[in-house]
Amino acid sequence: MTSIAVNLSTSDADAAAEPLVIRKLVQWHFVAGFAFLLTSMAWGFLFSLQFVGLYPVESLSLLSPGRVRLLHTNEIAYGFLVNAFVGAMYYAIPRLTGRPVASGKLGWFIFWVWQFLSVATSLGQLMGYTQAVEWGETPTGFKPGTFEPNFLPIDFLIEVGAVLLAIQFLTPIVKSLHQRMYVSLWYIASGFVWLILTYVMGNTMVEWSVAGSSGAAVAGLFIHDLVGLFVTPFGWGLMYFFVPIILRKPVWSHALSVIGFWALAFFYPLNGVHHFLLSSIPMSVQYGAIVSTMAVEIVVTTVIVNFFGTLWGEGHALRTNMPIRWFYTGMILYFITCLQCSFQTTLAFQEIIHFTDWVPGHAHLVMFGVFTFWLTGMLTWLWPRLTGNDWYDRSLLGWHYWLAVIGLVIMFLDLLCAGLVHGYMLKSLAPWMDIVNAMKPFWWVRSFAGGMILAGNLIFAWNLWKTATTPKAYDWRRDVVGEVN
Ligand code: HEM
Repeated sequence: MTSIAVNLSTSDADAAAEPLVIRKLVQWHFVAGFAFLLTSMAWGFLFSLQFVGLYPVESLSLLSPGRVRLLHTNEIAYGFLVNAFVGAMYYAIPRLTGRPVASGKLGWFIFWVWQFLSVATSLGQLMGYTQAVEWGETPTGFKPGTFEPNFLPIDFLIEVGAVLLAIQFLTPIVKSLHQRMYVSLWYIASGFVWLILTYVMGNTMVEWSVAGSSGAAVAGLFIHDLVGLFVTPFGWGLMYFFVPIILRKPVWSHALSVIGFWALAFFYPLNGVHHFLLSSIPMSVQYGAIVSTMAVEIVVTTVIVNFFGTLWGEGHALRTNMPIRWFYTGMILYFITCLQCSFQTTLAFQEIIHFTDWVPGHAHLVMFGVFTFWLTGMLTWLWPRLTGNDWYDRSLLGWHYWLAVIGLVIMFLDLLCAGLVHGYMLKSLAPWMDIVNAMKPFWWVRSFAGGMILAGNLIFAWNLWKTATTPKAYDWRRDVVGEVN
């Protein structure tokens, strides 16, 4: 009886929310995002072959490894993450506020412009029109340091796109301000403000107005704020929405969730300089970054405790509910990432790991192991609801999960070890070619692990496609936690 009542309420809730949620926008943003995830991984895999001496298109300058690396990271940031976050927000924000987004037409306009910008960024980078700022490599439209035009002003257009997205999503949030604001909305609303400011800072100040070590400090701030003030608030904001609705219970502690939000807002912006420790940036600024990086670990712990408190009593969902499994795997990896941060930020650690493969190991843990896992969980939950069809093959969901998780863990541990070997060899002043030769086995393992991740995601893409095109009634009883979902 209980399960029938629950099932009915799920379907009713869906029907009631229908006019609010523009399902096609949710669906197409996720489709575009996952297409970019696949192409980005393919670029990452191609680039990794350069390290093991198997780069297949060596003579083609258009696909030279340096350019392909940019495609890998930029398609992740702008093609995959933005699209997938926006897709999830089109689902979550109208439900949280009880109001539609500003405009459906604006939504489709932004959708197409954003795909154009993501593809144009890749084309610009392939042709060599990049800005020499890490994560800010999107073409500026001008020759370096001048206002002489050379390609499309992608930077400026992305900024306009971010403002339009903010208008789209802040409209329902502002209209619902008379109600108590749930923590997801705090995170998402602030995420838009921070994203707009961070993007302008990184893409203009470093090249045009702040030179030398101050420029490096701003670049560090930019890299870290993109993760901490764009990806993190959107990620947590959406987790605070999806976890309770899937588990069908409120978050464990509202107070802890608010503490987590304000502590993030206070400590995160001070972290950036930890990317340039032991540099010519004043030591007082470096120490400030170290202390605030460690403080972030405390913030993270409050959030993790809150989510595990919410899971309490429903632990079986980790086994039976695939989205919950993705979410909590990501959370454990998030805790490990942040713990790693508080060690990495010490000067003793920096001396060894800086300029080594340790750093990409850390980057993959957070960008893939945390945020991609969360977004994958959201898509896994949403896809049957968006297409109206049950999964084509549920066993493939398991294959996807295990290939991605095992591949990631292998890649992470491999790069960690590579980083330590590299770092200690550098410290002992070993000849450069000896270091390169010592790295080769690690680079082989990285390509192998990347192949596993890519294979898992190709299986998922096939399953998504077949699910969308094969009519199969969705069994709403699966919505009850405890049923295999
Ligand atoms: C097929 C799987 C993948 C392979 C083979 C791969 C390979 C690589 C390689 C070779 C690099 C350059 C490292 C260097 O310059 O030393 C890199 C960098 C990076 N990758 Fe991946 N990658 C994969 C998947 C992903 C995914 C799924 C994400 C994020 C969702 C990601 C995010 C990044 C980031 C953020 C960097 C920059 C790291 C840094 O600058 O420290 N990669 N990847």
